[in-house]
Amino acid sequence: MAAGNVVRGGAVIGAVLAVLVAAFAWAGGWLSGDRLSPERFITALKPPGGFGYGDRRNHAKGVCVTGTFTADGAATAVSHASLFRPGTYPLIGRFSLGSADPAASDSATRVRGFGFDITGPGGEEWRSANIDVPFFPVATPDAFLQLLQASGSKDPGAIGQVAAAHPELKAFGGWAKSAPWTASFAEEQYNGIDAFVATDAAGSRHFVRWSLLPAATAQQVTPDALKAKGPDFLDRELESRLASGPLHWRMVLTEAAPGDQTADPSQAWPAGRPTVAAGTITLTAGQDNVAGPCRDVNFDPTILPSGLATGDDPFPAARSAVYAVSYNRRTAQEASGQATGGHDTGRNAQ
Ligand code: HEM
Repeated sequence: MAAGNVVRGGAVIGAVLAVLVAAFAWAGGWLSGDRLSPERFITALKPPGGFGYGDRRNHAKGVCVTGTFTADGAATAVSHASLFRPGTYPLIGRFSLGSADPAASDSATRVRGFGFDITGPGGEEWRSANIDVPFFPVATPDAFLQLLQASGSKDPGAIGQVAAAHPELKAFGGWAKSAPWTASFAEEQYNGIDAFVATDAAGSRHFVRWSLLPAATAQQVTPDALKAKGPDFLDRELESRLASGPLHWRMVLTEAAPGDQTADPSQAWPAGRPTVAAGTITLTAGQDNVAGPCRDVNFDPTILPSGLATGDDPFPAARSAVYAVSYNRRTAQEASGQATGGHDTGRNAQ
């Protein structure tokens, strides 16, 4: 190796180390004076009755499913990810309620989620956790921490203060009040919300967001009709649909136009941006919620195949750090035999 290469190689290694140190510093909360540490998020998420033993520290109540992702090949126009090449790849999925409370009511929890873990050619994985909201309530992880802390606060003015400091929250309030309710996980559209960078075979970068569009037609139900179904109907409803055949969603990538912001998931991109249909998610079977394949999956949004990467949106890195702490705590409790699978049989874990 020529001397110049050694110097350049040293600089590259130094730069990589700096990035790694910065990532660990973020995860440890050192850069932010501990303000944004994963532990702070988890403390702020803790529901009044405590976390369930062995449960996820958010989206605790959920249903595990398995199926496939069939790629059409069209998304190779924006990303060289091997799992966008035509083929059918195994998928583990998890539907959930957007609440840290394992006893949250299906009929009263506004946000529903779907996480997927697709294993592509050669074992490369893509993990993603998506929600049925079209945009995130606030613009930054710091604002989200403030919102969680205010939600758990006894101060009746706390949420108002966060709303005043983060006016973007108003749009979420509008969505929560007016978006139609459905009585099925199968009828929801799930959105990735964060922007990621797709790199095509020629090396060009494209900022993308993705959505999963259900094949099932959404049947709007009133909040009263939902309430009448009781707190735990979504799991059974999904099971009965799967008993009569597979469920499908189209995965669509939307590309940002020049000038669209890519760092703030509270801002939806204007309609009419170019889209590409990447393929179809097919769910074929429900799985045991405690001991099934979801148990060992952390749907960390930074686990991406080559051809997809994080961009300037700060949420994926923040989420990755918090999900890791959640995973470590719940699996430690599972190892001690206390897991509930989001079904509220043991409470008050840390
Ligand atoms: C700073 C922002 C966020 C924080 C602190 C946070 C926190 C968490 C935590 C602690 C978990 C449990 C992880 C586990 O144990 O596996 C979780 C799960 C989840 N989050 Fe987030 N989250 C954030 C942003 C988001 C966003 C932007 C989305 C949607 C685009 C999202 C969707 C989900 C979903 C669907 C799950 C459940 C995944 C599963 O089924 O395991 N989260 N979140």
